[in-house]
Amino acid sequence: MMPRDTNAAGTIFGGVILSYVDQAAAVEAHRQNPRRKFVTVAMKEVVFKQPVRVGDLLTLYTRTDRIGTTSVSIHVDVEVYRPGSQEKIPVTEADVVFVAVDDQGRPVPVREGA
Ligand SMILES: CC(C)(COP(=O)(O)OP(=O)(O)OC[C@H]1O[C@@H](n2cnc3c(N)ncnc32)[C@H](O)[C@@H]1OP(=O)(O)O)[C@@H](O)C(=O)NCCC(=O)NCCS
Repeated sequence: MMPRDTNAAGTIFGGVILSYVDQAAAVEAHRQNPRRKFVTVAMKEVVFKQPVRVGDLLTLYTRTDRIGTTSVSIHVDVEVYRPGSQEKIPVTEADVVFVAVDDQGRPVPVREGA
């Protein structure tokens, strides 16, 4: 993480982490159907468990929790390695819901045409 991403307290701004969470979850959603366009409909149960610091190496792990008709729910765990340490520290977790949409932005079945 870079100094440009800090908040007034000097740690990493939560919105930056959320942006990475959204992107990682979107990649996971596309695994369910690479041909579909997905949009984020909800970010749920976001927990910032530990601050993230400048120099931390961020790693995001994703898991598909549920495939609905037009939606897919993804769980994201975020961990960091601190410089000089081999310890992995859990910092954030979130559940993100995506909806598969057509070119007009209307919900369509996730798995159709997969
Ligand atoms: C996503 C969007 C197309 C859904 O439209 P909608 O008319 O609410 O769709 P529906 O009510 O038919 O719901 C579609 C699916 O989303 C799910 N859903 C809707 N709102 C939800 C919420 N708040 N939390 C979890 N799931 C939700 C529904 O359960 C349904 O899932 P299912 O088909 O698997 O049962 C519409 O809300 C939208 O365009 N939102 C903006 C998306 C966007 O631009 N995201 C980027 C960030 S700004």
